[in-house]
Amino acid sequence: MPDIVGTTDNLILGLTRATTSRALYPPSHPKVQGTVDEVCEALEAALDARSSHEITLLVVDDELAVDGEPWHRASVHCSRLVRAFERVAIERLTFSAKAGPEEIEGLFAGMVGRGDLDTTENIVLGKILGVGSSGDKSVDGEFLASLEGCMDGVQQAMGVLTLDADGAAKLERSVWQLIEATTREGRAFALLATLRSRDDYLYRHAINVCLHAIHLARAIGIQGEVLQDLGVAALLHDIGLEEMPDELLGRRGQLSDEQRSLLRRHPELGAAKLAGIHGLPQLTVVVAYEHHRYSDGSGGFPDVAGKPNLASQITAVADSWDNLVGMCAPTFSQREKLRFATNGLRRRSGSVLSPFLVESFVTLMEDRQIESLSAAD
Ligand SMILES: [Fe+2]
Ligand SMILES: [Fe+2]
Repeated sequence: MPDIVGTTDNLILGLTRATTSRALYPPSHPKVQGTVDEVCEALEAALDARSSHEITLLVVDDELAVDGEPWHRASVHCSRLVRAFERVAIERLTFSAKAGPEEIEGLFAGMVGRGDLDTTENIVLGKILGVGSSGDKSVDGEFLASLEGCMDGVQQAMGVLTLDADGAAKLERSVWQLIEATTREGRAFALLATLRSRDDYLYRHAINVCLHAIHLARAIGIQGEVLQDLGVAALLHDIGLEEMPDELLGRRGQLSDEQRSLLRRHPELGAAKLAGIHGLPQLTVVVAYEHHRYSDGSGGFPDVAGKPNLASQITAVADSWDNLVGMCAPTFSQREKLRFATNGLRRRSGSVLSPFLVESFVTLMEDRQIESLSAAD
Protein backbone atom coordinates (compact mmCIF):
# COMPACT_ATOMS: atom_id res chain seq x y z
CA MET A 1 0.00 0.00 0.00
CA PRO A 2 1.69 3.27 -1.07
CA ASP A 3 2.13 5.72 1.78
CA ILE A 4 0.69 8.83 0.13
CA VAL A 5 0.16 10.73 3.38
CA GLY A 6 3.59 9.98 4.87
CA THR A 7 5.55 10.75 1.72
CA THR A 8 3.61 13.97 1.10
CA ASP A 9 4.16 15.10 4.70
CA ASN A 10 7.84 14.40 4.22
CA LEU A 11 7.94 16.53 1.11
CA ILE A 12 6.25 19.40 2.97
CA LEU A 13 8.71 19.06 5.83
CA GLY A 14 11.64 19.03 3.37
CA LEU A 15 10.37 22.12 1.56
CA THR A 16 10.01 24.02 4.83
CA ARG A 17 13.47 23.06 6.04
CA ALA A 18 15.10 23.88 2.73
CA THR A 19 13.49 27.33 2.66
CA THR A 20 14.77 28.24 6.09
CA SER A 21 18.26 26.89 5.53
CA ARG A 22 18.52 28.78 2.21
CA ALA A 23 17.57 31.96 4.08
CA LEU A 24 20.44 31.42 6.47
CA TYR A 25 23.24 30.05 4.30
CA PRO A 26 24.78 30.48 0.83
CA PRO A 27 23.98 27.85 -1.85
CA SER A 28 27.33 26.09 -1.39
CA HIS A 29 26.77 25.47 2.31
CA PRO A 30 26.41 21.78 3.24
CA LYS A 31 23.16 22.53 5.07
CA VAL A 32 21.59 23.93 1.93
CA GLN A 33 22.84 21.05 -0.19
CA GLY A 34 21.64 18.55 2.40
CA THR A 35 18.14 19.99 2.54
CA VAL A 36 17.92 20.23 -1.27
CA ASP A 37 18.90 16.54 -1.49
CA GLU A 38 16.21 15.77 1.09
CA VAL A 39 13.61 17.52 -1.07
CA CYS A 40 14.76 15.60 -4.19
CA GLU A 41 14.39 12.28 -2.35
CA ALA A 42 11.08 13.25 -0.76
CA LEU A 43 9.74 14.37 -4.15
CA GLU A 44 10.69 11.08 -5.74
CA ALA A 45 9.05 9.11 -2.92
CA ALA A 46 5.87 11.21 -3.02
CA LEU A 47 5.54 10.82 -6.81
CA ASP A 48 6.20 7.07 -6.54
CA ALA A 49 3.49 6.70 -3.89
CA ARG A 50 1.06 8.61 -6.09
CA SER A 51 2.20 6.82 -9.29
CA SER A 52 2.39 10.23 -10.89
CA HIS A 53 4.90 12.35 -12.83
CA GLU A 54 4.00 15.57 -11.09
CA ILE A 55 2.61 16.97 -7.87
CA THR A 56 0.90 20.32 -7.29
CA LEU A 57 0.77 22.27 -4.05
CA LEU A 58 -1.90 24.94 -3.89
CA VAL A 59 -2.68 27.60 -1.28
CA VAL A 60 -6.35 28.50 -0.90
CA ASP A 61 -7.50 30.78 1.94
CA ASP A 62 -4.42 30.06 4.06
CA GLU A 63 -4.87 26.31 3.62
CA LEU A 64 -2.70 23.92 1.68
CA ALA A 65 -4.09 21.57 -0.96
CA VAL A 66 -2.06 18.81 -2.61
CA ASP A 67 -3.13 17.66 -6.09
CA GLY A 68 -6.48 19.31 -5.49
CA GLU A 69 -7.10 17.61 -2.12
CA PRO A 70 -7.23 19.85 0.98
CA TRP A 71 -4.28 18.84 3.13
CA HIS A 72 -5.80 19.00 6.60
CA ARG A 73 -2.69 18.25 8.58
CA ALA A 74 -2.26 20.44 11.62
CA SER A 75 1.51 20.46 11.42
CA VAL A 76 3.74 23.45 12.08
CA HIS A 77 5.53 22.65 8.81
CA CYS A 78 2.31 22.85 6.84
CA SER A 79 1.42 26.29 8.18
CA ARG A 80 5.00 27.47 7.71
CA LEU A 81 4.99 26.39 4.12
CA VAL A 82 1.73 28.22 3.53
CA ARG A 83 3.22 31.35 5.11
CA ALA A 84 6.38 30.99 3.03
CA PHE A 85 4.28 30.75 -0.15
CA GLU A 86 2.12 33.69 0.86
CA ARG A 87 5.14 35.88 1.58
CA VAL A 88 6.21 35.64 -2.05
CA ALA A 89 2.66 35.44 -3.42
CA ILE A 90 2.89 31.88 -4.74
CA GLU A 91 -0.52 30.25 -4.92
CA ARG A 92 0.40 27.18 -6.93
CA LEU A 93 3.58 25.17 -7.31
CA THR A 94 3.95 22.12 -9.55
CA PHE A 95 7.01 19.89 -9.42
CA SER A 96 7.62 17.45 -12.22
CA ALA A 97 9.59 14.27 -11.64
CA LYS A 98 12.51 15.69 -13.61
CA ALA A 99 13.08 18.65 -11.23
CA GLY A 100 16.75 18.44 -10.23
CA PRO A 101 18.79 19.85 -7.34
CA GLU A 102 19.83 22.99 -9.22
CA GLU A 103 16.30 23.99 -10.13
CA ILE A 104 15.12 23.17 -6.62
CA GLU A 105 17.87 25.25 -5.00
CA GLY A 106 16.95 28.13 -7.35
CA LEU A 107 13.34 27.92 -6.18
CA PHE A 108 14.37 28.30 -2.53
CA ALA A 109 16.75 31.16 -3.34
CA GLY A 110 13.81 32.94 -5.00
CA MET A 111 11.52 32.19 -2.08
CA VAL A 112 13.82 33.97 0.37
CA GLY A 113 14.55 36.91 -1.91
CA ARG A 114 18.00 35.81 -3.00
CA GLY A 115 17.26 35.16 -6.64
CA ASP A 116 14.53 35.36 -9.27
CA LEU A 117 11.38 33.48 -8.53
CA ASP A 118 10.20 32.24 -11.88
CA THR A 119 8.80 29.16 -13.53
CA THR A 120 11.52 26.81 -14.79
CA GLU A 121 11.41 23.76 -17.02
CA ASN A 122 10.30 21.38 -14.28
CA ILE A 123 8.94 23.68 -11.59
CA VAL A 124 5.87 25.67 -12.54
CA LEU A 125 4.77 28.57 -10.37
CA GLY A 126 1.39 30.22 -10.26
CA LYS A 127 1.66 33.66 -8.68
CA ILE A 128 -0.95 36.08 -7.44
CA LEU A 129 -0.81 38.94 -9.89
CA GLY A 130 0.55 42.26 -8.69
CA VAL A 131 1.89 41.03 -5.38
CA GLY A 132 5.22 39.70 -4.30
CA SER A 133 7.47 41.04 -6.98
CA SER A 134 8.49 44.19 -5.15
CA GLY A 135 11.89 44.29 -3.45
CA ASP A 136 10.23 45.28 -0.21
CA LYS A 137 8.17 42.12 -0.09
CA SER A 138 11.09 39.80 -0.84
CA VAL A 139 13.20 41.44 1.85
CA ASP A 140 10.43 40.74 4.32
CA GLY A 141 10.24 37.17 3.09
CA GLU A 142 13.93 36.67 3.65
CA PHE A 143 13.77 38.18 7.10
CA LEU A 144 10.89 36.14 8.28
CA ALA A 145 12.27 32.92 6.82
CA SER A 146 15.67 33.47 8.41
CA LEU A 147 14.05 34.39 11.69
CA GLU A 148 12.13 31.14 11.64
CA GLY A 149 15.33 29.29 10.80
CA CYS A 150 17.14 30.87 13.72
CA MET A 151 14.36 30.03 16.09
CA ASP A 152 14.59 26.45 14.88
CA GLY A 153 18.23 26.63 15.92
CA VAL A 154 17.23 27.94 19.33
CA GLN A 155 14.77 25.10 19.72
CA GLN A 156 17.30 22.52 18.65
CA ALA A 157 19.83 23.95 21.08
CA MET A 158 17.17 23.81 23.78
CA GLY A 159 16.52 20.21 22.89
CA VAL A 160 20.08 19.24 23.74
CA LEU A 161 20.36 21.62 26.65
CA THR A 162 20.88 19.30 29.54
CA LEU A 163 22.05 22.29 31.51
CA ASP A 164 25.70 21.76 30.69
CA ALA A 165 28.04 24.43 29.41
CA ASP A 166 28.10 23.02 25.90
CA GLY A 167 24.31 23.14 25.57
CA ALA A 168 24.23 26.64 26.99
CA ALA A 169 26.86 27.78 24.49
CA LYS A 170 24.86 26.28 21.62
CA LEU A 171 21.78 28.09 22.78
CA GLU A 172 23.61 31.37 23.03
CA ARG A 173 25.00 30.97 19.52
CA SER A 174 21.51 30.40 18.17
CA VAL A 175 20.20 33.48 19.88
CA TRP A 176 23.03 35.52 18.43
CA GLN A 177 22.08 34.14 15.05
CA LEU A 178 18.54 35.24 15.72
CA ILE A 179 19.71 38.71 16.60
CA GLU A 180 21.79 38.85 13.44
CA ALA A 181 18.79 37.93 11.35
CA THR A 182 16.64 40.50 13.04
CA THR A 183 19.02 43.37 12.59
CA ARG A 184 19.43 43.31 8.85
CA GLU A 185 17.54 45.90 6.84
CA GLY A 186 13.79 45.69 6.99
CA ARG A 187 10.85 47.57 8.36
CA ALA A 188 10.26 45.54 11.49
CA PHE A 189 13.71 44.53 12.53
CA ALA A 190 15.41 47.80 11.82
CA LEU A 191 13.84 48.69 15.16
CA LEU A 192 16.41 46.75 17.07
CA ALA A 193 19.27 48.18 15.06
CA THR A 194 18.00 51.67 15.86
CA LEU A 195 17.93 50.76 19.51
CA ARG A 196 21.52 49.60 19.27
CA SER A 197 22.62 52.89 17.78
CA ARG A 198 20.79 54.78 20.54
CA ASP A 199 22.00 52.75 23.49
CA ASP A 200 24.23 49.71 23.44
CA TYR A 201 23.23 48.69 26.96
CA LEU A 202 19.58 48.45 25.93
CA TYR A 203 20.51 46.45 22.86
CA ARG A 204 22.44 43.93 24.95
CA HIS A 205 19.59 43.93 27.46
CA ALA A 206 17.15 42.99 24.66
CA ILE A 207 19.33 40.04 23.68
CA ASN A 208 19.75 38.82 27.25
CA VAL A 209 16.06 39.08 28.01
CA CYS A 210 15.27 37.14 24.83
CA LEU A 211 17.74 34.41 25.78
CA HIS A 212 16.49 34.10 29.36
CA ALA A 213 12.81 34.25 28.39
CA ILE A 214 13.22 31.45 25.83
CA HIS A 215 15.18 29.41 28.35
CA LEU A 216 12.48 29.74 31.00
CA ALA A 217 9.58 29.26 28.58
CA ARG A 218 11.11 26.08 27.18
CA ALA A 219 11.68 24.76 30.70
CA ILE A 220 8.00 25.08 31.57
CA GLY A 221 6.91 23.31 28.40
CA ILE A 222 6.29 26.08 25.86
CA GLN A 223 7.25 24.94 22.38
CA GLY A 224 6.87 25.55 18.66
CA GLU A 225 5.49 28.74 17.24
CA VAL A 226 4.47 30.13 20.62
CA LEU A 227 8.08 29.80 21.75
CA GLN A 228 9.24 31.58 18.62
CA ASP A 229 6.75 34.38 19.06
CA LEU A 230 7.73 34.72 22.69
CA GLY A 231 11.42 34.99 21.73
CA VAL A 232 10.68 37.82 19.30
CA ALA A 233 8.36 39.50 21.82
CA ALA A 234 11.02 39.36 24.55
CA LEU A 235 13.57 40.75 22.13
CA LEU A 236 11.38 43.76 21.40
CA HIS A 237 9.86 44.25 24.86
CA ASP A 238 11.58 47.58 25.56
CA ILE A 239 11.33 49.01 22.06
CA GLY A 240 9.23 51.86 23.48
CA LEU A 241 12.35 53.17 25.23
CA GLU A 242 13.54 54.29 21.85
CA GLU A 243 10.97 57.05 22.07
CA MET A 244 12.60 58.47 25.20
CA PRO A 245 14.83 61.55 25.02
CA ASP A 246 18.59 60.92 25.05
CA GLU A 247 19.15 62.43 28.49
CA LEU A 248 16.65 59.96 29.99
CA LEU A 249 17.89 56.88 28.15
CA GLY A 250 21.44 57.02 29.41
CA ARG A 251 20.46 57.99 32.93
CA ARG A 252 20.99 55.60 35.79
CA GLY A 253 19.95 56.81 39.24
CA GLN A 254 17.44 59.26 40.68
CA LEU A 255 14.71 60.51 38.37
CA SER A 256 12.36 63.43 38.84
CA ASP A 257 8.60 62.68 39.03
CA GLU A 258 8.19 64.02 35.53
CA GLN A 259 10.99 61.87 34.15
CA ARG A 260 9.62 58.82 35.92
CA SER A 261 6.15 59.26 34.47
CA LEU A 262 7.60 59.76 31.00
CA LEU A 263 9.70 56.59 31.36
CA ARG A 264 6.61 54.69 32.47
CA ARG A 265 4.99 55.41 29.13
CA HIS A 266 7.47 53.18 27.27
CA PRO A 267 5.20 50.07 27.38
CA GLU A 268 2.31 51.91 25.71
CA LEU A 269 4.58 53.61 23.19
CA GLY A 270 6.30 50.33 22.36
CA ALA A 271 3.01 48.47 21.96
CA ALA A 272 1.62 51.18 19.69
CA LYS A 273 4.75 51.07 17.56
CA LEU A 274 4.74 47.28 17.23
CA ALA A 275 1.00 47.21 16.50
CA GLY A 276 1.69 49.34 13.45
CA ILE A 277 4.21 46.92 11.94
CA HIS A 278 2.83 44.34 9.60
CA GLY A 279 4.05 40.77 10.04
CA LEU A 280 5.09 40.79 13.69
CA PRO A 281 3.50 38.28 16.07
CA GLN A 282 0.59 39.76 18.03
CA LEU A 283 2.38 38.63 21.17
CA THR A 284 5.02 41.34 20.67
CA VAL A 285 2.35 44.00 21.23
CA VAL A 286 1.00 42.23 24.33
CA VAL A 287 4.42 41.72 25.92
CA ALA A 288 5.60 45.26 25.17
CA TYR A 289 2.45 46.59 26.84
CA GLU A 290 2.40 44.31 29.88
CA HIS A 291 5.98 43.54 30.85
CA HIS A 292 5.93 45.97 33.80
CA ARG A 293 2.54 44.79 35.10
CA TYR A 294 2.58 42.75 38.32
CA SER A 295 2.01 39.03 37.80
CA ASP A 296 -1.06 38.99 40.08
CA GLY A 297 -2.54 42.05 38.37
CA SER A 298 -2.31 44.19 41.54
CA GLY A 299 -0.03 46.91 40.20
CA GLY A 300 2.78 47.98 37.94
CA PHE A 301 2.29 50.05 34.82
CA PRO A 302 0.34 50.81 32.66
CA ASP A 303 -2.41 51.03 35.27
CA VAL A 304 -4.96 48.61 33.85
CA ALA A 305 -7.02 45.81 35.33
CA GLY A 306 -6.29 42.11 34.99
CA LYS A 307 -3.37 39.72 35.13
CA PRO A 308 -0.75 39.90 32.40
CA ASN A 309 -0.33 37.20 29.77
CA LEU A 310 2.00 34.31 30.68
CA ALA A 311 4.46 35.48 27.99
CA SER A 312 4.57 38.92 29.64
CA GLN A 313 5.15 37.31 33.05
CA ILE A 314 8.00 35.21 31.66
CA THR A 315 9.53 38.29 30.04
CA ALA A 316 9.18 40.18 33.34
CA VAL A 317 11.24 37.51 35.15
CA ALA A 318 13.90 37.55 32.42
CA ASP A 319 13.87 41.36 32.44
CA SER A 320 14.31 41.57 36.23
CA TRP A 321 17.11 39.03 36.14
CA ASP A 322 19.07 40.93 33.53
CA ASN A 323 18.54 44.22 35.36
CA LEU A 324 19.76 42.65 38.62
CA VAL A 325 22.85 41.20 36.94
CA GLY A 326 23.47 44.65 35.43
CA MET A 327 23.38 46.16 38.93
CA CYS A 328 26.21 43.95 40.18
CA ALA A 329 29.53 45.62 40.86
CA PRO A 330 32.15 44.82 38.19
CA THR A 331 34.33 43.28 40.90
CA PHE A 332 31.72 40.58 41.68
CA SER A 333 32.67 37.01 40.86
CA GLN A 334 30.20 34.95 38.80
CA ARG A 335 29.13 33.18 41.98
CA GLU A 336 28.48 36.51 43.72
CA LYS A 337 26.49 37.76 40.73
CA LEU A 338 24.39 34.62 40.78
CA ARG A 339 23.68 35.02 44.51
CA PHE A 340 22.89 38.73 44.20
CA ALA A 341 20.53 38.27 41.24
CA THR A 342 18.84 35.22 42.82
CA ASN A 343 18.19 37.07 46.08
CA GLY A 344 16.89 40.09 44.20
CA LEU A 345 14.56 37.97 42.09
CA ARG A 346 13.21 36.18 45.14
CA ARG A 347 12.50 39.51 46.87
CA ARG A 348 10.24 40.40 43.92
CA SER A 349 8.58 37.00 43.95
CA GLY A 350 4.95 37.25 45.09
CA SER A 351 2.79 39.91 43.63
CA VAL A 352 5.38 41.47 41.27
CA LEU A 353 6.79 38.28 39.74
CA SER A 354 5.12 34.89 39.64
CA PRO A 355 6.63 32.69 42.40
CA PHE A 356 6.36 29.64 40.15
CA LEU A 357 8.28 31.34 37.35
CA VAL A 358 10.87 32.78 39.73
CA GLU A 359 11.61 29.40 41.30
CA SER A 360 11.70 27.69 37.89
CA PHE A 361 14.15 30.28 36.66
CA VAL A 362 16.35 30.17 39.75
CA THR A 363 16.50 26.38 39.54
CA LEU A 364 17.55 26.62 35.89
CA MET A 365 20.25 29.13 36.67
CA GLU A 366 21.60 27.26 39.67
CA ASP A 367 21.59 23.92 37.87
CA ARG A 368 23.27 25.36 34.88
CA GLN A 369 26.29 26.42 36.92
CA ILE A 370 26.84 29.06 34.34
CA GLU A 371 30.19 30.57 33.71
CA SER A 372 28.72 33.76 32.37
CA LEU A 373 25.44 35.18 33.58
CA SER A 374 24.51 37.03 30.47
CA ALA A 375 25.07 36.59 26.77
CA ALA A 376 26.90 39.87 26.62
CA ASP A 377 29.50 39.17 29.30
FE1 LIG B 1 10.67 47.88 30.14
FE1 LIG C 1 13.62 45.61 29.99
